[in-house]
Formats: sequence, C-alpha cells, structure tokens
Amino acid sequence: MEQPLQQRVAVITGASHGLGAAVAQHLAALGARVALIARGEAGLAQVAADITAQGGEAHIFPCDIADAAQVQATAGRIVAALGRVDLLINNAGIPAPRTFAETSLEDWDSVIGVNLSGVFYLTRCLWETLIAGDAGYVVTISGTAGVRGGGSPAYGSAKYALTGLNHAIAAAGKEHRLRATILYPGGMDTGWRGAPIGVKPRAETMDPQEVARFIGRLVTSPVEFVVNEAVLNPIATPFL
Ligand SMILES: NC(=O)c1ccc[n+]([C@@H]2O[C@H](COP(=O)([O-])OP(=O)(O)OC[C@H]3O[C@@H](n4cnc5c(N)ncnc54)[C@H](OP(=O)(O)O)[C@@H]3O)[C@@H](O)[C@H]2O)c1
Repeated sequence: MEQPLQQRVAVITGASHGLGAAVAQHLAALGARVALIARGEAGLAQVAADITAQGGEAHIFPCDIADAAQVQATAGRIVAALGRVDLLINNAGIPAPRTFAETSLEDWDSVIGVNLSGVFYLTRCLWETLIAGDAGYVVTISGTAGVRGGGSPAYGSAKYALTGLNHAIAAAGKEHRLRATILYPGGMDTGWRGAPIGVKPRAETMDPQEVARFIGRLVTSPVEFVVNEAVLNPIATPFL
C-alpha cells in the first residue's frame, strides 16, 4: 500500500535526540526518505540505524547549523544525495541561561546562532528545492517561550523571532503551494536541561512521539489547508 509520504524527502534538524529523533522516525515510517542533521555523528548514526532496521531510508549529515559555511555545504550535499527536499523540520535548539543577569553576549550569540540564524539560513539554502516540488512544507519548532516569553532573554528572543520568520516563509511560499507552520510546544520528556526522562507523569510532560505524530498529521494534511501556528501542552499545564 502507498504510504502518505512515499517519494517525499524530509530534512530534520536536531534529529539525533529528543523531538527531532522522534519526528525522523515517524516521517520515515510514513514513507519519507529522511535526511538527519545534528552536530554529533554517533547519535545521528544510531537514529539512522533504528530507521533502517524498521525498513525506512535515512541519511546522516553532521552539521552545526550555527555555522553558515557548514549549512550551505550541507544543503548542497543533501540535494546532491537525495535529489530534492519537500519537507523541512526546523527543530534543533539549545537552552540558554535562564536570567538576564546570567546571560553574557557570548551566550546570546550562541543561542541566537543556533535557535534563530541557523533556522533562517538552512531554510534559505534549501529554498529553491523546497519550492520546486509540489506542496513543500516547513515546520518550525518554537516553544511556549515564543508566545509568552520567560526569564531567558536569549532563548525567549530567538523563539519569538521564529514567529516572524515562519510568517515570512509562509508569505513567500504560498504562490508555490509551500506551507509553513510554527509550533509552540510546552514541556516535552526529552531530558531538556538535564531533566530525567520517563519520571514525570504523562499528563505533566509530552511524549515527543506524540508531538511527532501531530507533525505527521500536519504534513500529510490536504495542501489547500494550513495550520499557521499551534500551542501544544501536556494537559496538566494548559496554556492559559
Ligand atoms: N524539551 C522541551 O521541553 C521543549 C519545550 C519547548 C520547546 N522545545 C524545543 O524543541 C526543540 C527540540 O528540543 P528537544 O528537547 O528535543 O532537544 P534535545 O533533546 O536537547 O535535542 C536537541 C537536538 O538538536 C541538536 N543540536 C543542538 N545544537 C545544534 C546545532 N548547533 N546544530 C545542529 N544540531 C544541533 C542536538 O544534537 P547535537 O548536540 O549532536 O548537535 C540534538 O539532536 C528545540 O528547538 C527546543 O527549543 C523543547
């Protein structure tokens, strides 16, 4: 039976761990050929091996998305290896010092570099291939910090700015039938900031696989329909 993402190529950043790994596994299970980006090669290789063992197709592209030269080269290598890109999941992100007083200019530059500039530049470097196919899709992972802020100036600023970037992607993409969605997840059970995994009750922290299935539903929905943005939360901490 034809799978919903058969013949589609998906690029997922931060695909070696947490939500990105779950999204890569889910999109591969839906039939996509997946290109996995993160800095660490060993983690990427493990996720790719899991996907291959399940009968999927995965290719790894170690890359620091904050390094423009690496991003440009990686985008070229992905297109050379896979021929096209239909779906881009901008997921990679790093935490930042929590307070204003703790945040140095170095912290600011590094968080903005990964969580904002890296998202822009990878999307820009893949733009021509994303709009060349029929019905491209860019999903960008922000966080509830991108809607209501929080203490961290660098993290909150980067996540807020992704809203503007997402809307610019959507505006530029619509004439090419390319859709863009920004997601604002609350707490996910990924070990973020060193939190232990599998300890909190499910109502208090989201399973990244559940969020991955939500992304799968977005990218397989009819092209005439788009979810521009969505806040996702565990039921015990609703966004009120
Ligand atoms: N977990 C939560 O509670 C939560 C809540 C709201 C929003 N979010 C957002 O959700 C996204 C995923 O979070 P997560 O919890 O799944 O994170 P995670 O488990 O820490 O995984 C982060 C992934 O990003 C990669 N990465 C980090 N820096 C990178 C860089 N410079 N270039 C390329 N890849 C890089 C990491 O691999 P390497 O280290 O090998 O590069 C890893 O694969 C992030 O954008 C985060 O801000 C998370």
